[in-house]
Amino acid sequence: MILAPMSAPRVFVTADIGKEALRRLVDSGFEVEVHPVIEPPSYDLLTVKVGSGVEGLVTTIRDRIDDPLLALGAAHGLKIVAQVAVGYDNIDVAAASRHGIPVANTPEVLSDATAEFAFFMMGAVARKLYPSEELVRSGRWGVWHPHHPWLGDNVTGKTVAVIGTGRIGKAFVHKCAGFDMDVLCYSRTRDEAFAQAVQKVMDLRAELGFGRRRTIRYTSLDEALTTADFVSLHLPLIRTGSSSTLHFMNEARLRQMKPDAYLVNTTRGPVVDEQALARVLQDGTIAGAALDVFDKEPLPEDSPLRDERLFLKLRLFNHLGSGTYETRLSPDPNIGMAGRAVQSVIDCLRGADPREMPWVVNRPPKGPSPNA
Ligand code: GLV
Repeated sequence: MILAPMSAPRVFVTADIGKEALRRLVDSGFEVEVHPVIEPPSYDLLTVKVGSGVEGLVTTIRDRIDDPLLALGAAHGLKIVAQVAVGYDNIDVAAASRHGIPVANTPEVLSDATAEFAFFMMGAVARKLYPSEELVRSGRWGVWHPHHPWLGDNVTGKTVAVIGTGRIGKAFVHKCAGFDMDVLCYSRTRDEAFAQAVQKVMDLRAELGFGRRRTIRYTSLDEALTTADFVSLHLPLIRTGSSSTLHFMNEARLRQMKPDAYLVNTTRGPVVDEQALARVLQDGTIAGAALDVFDKEPLPEDSPLRDERLFLKLRLFNHLGSGTYETRLSPDPNIGMAGRAVQSVIDCLRGADPREMPWVVNRPPKGPSPNA
């Protein structure tokens, strides 16, 4: 699908991000080509497009944007890569910086959608929402009984460990405070002012008679893992280096969790060692898990997470954390990921200085303008 006007800066969009956001690109005077099928473009096709001189490239988490592709782009006038996601571990940002190509992402606009999804996932796994529906749909609901065929666990009033208190982690804390949960935060960089503000809300709720006083505090990873009823992951995926989060939840850390605790992951699959998770679920080391992201997406047929014996304790979702109409598709840069990504393309191709662009993740250092 190619949307005119001709002989204008060209933009290649690797997935249909909604006609309203695409219309904003066309109305800005660009020639816009949208990859026309549901499946992502192959790496070869990306190479052809980038080599053909597109100036804007709008990507999703499915696209591998590596050093050779960025080098090709730099040689053919690529001016910006705008990723429709907050996470950008599929893009070699260091290489983009070396080639002088700004990379933009879509922070903030998806924080509440993703945080509420993580929150609902806690309920889905702990209250057995899907097994309950499946029982009804399959016609196997024979009788009402006080505890047959199984029961769930409360979420309200429990202790939740929030691993990573960036934007989404914080939005998740807000939801948990409303459910009278005690919150243990773990983060390499602590935001004590945030914790104090949430504590005030908790104190006010108690003062107004909404139950006993709840607490929030930063703590060690060991305390968070060993005492929480729910552990929710909100760390970005970093594959290498001293800040690596690859297999952050390894077998040893999973085994630190309580036998009645649940793990929730809405960040990136490789943050959890899936093989180890399958083992600790099988042997009852933890009570359950809910996953929205996987090492390989879509989840392979032979994944140990598909084992039927895990049906009651493991909920699996299709990377839907930010998946609401307004969050994914709104053309408004203050509401939607599509709007925020196309705004970066529009600003950049109209000559904005990447150092002044709010969602560029590899802003060049301040100093004389690169065009000066
Ligand atoms: C989605 O996974 C995102 O990073 O925005």
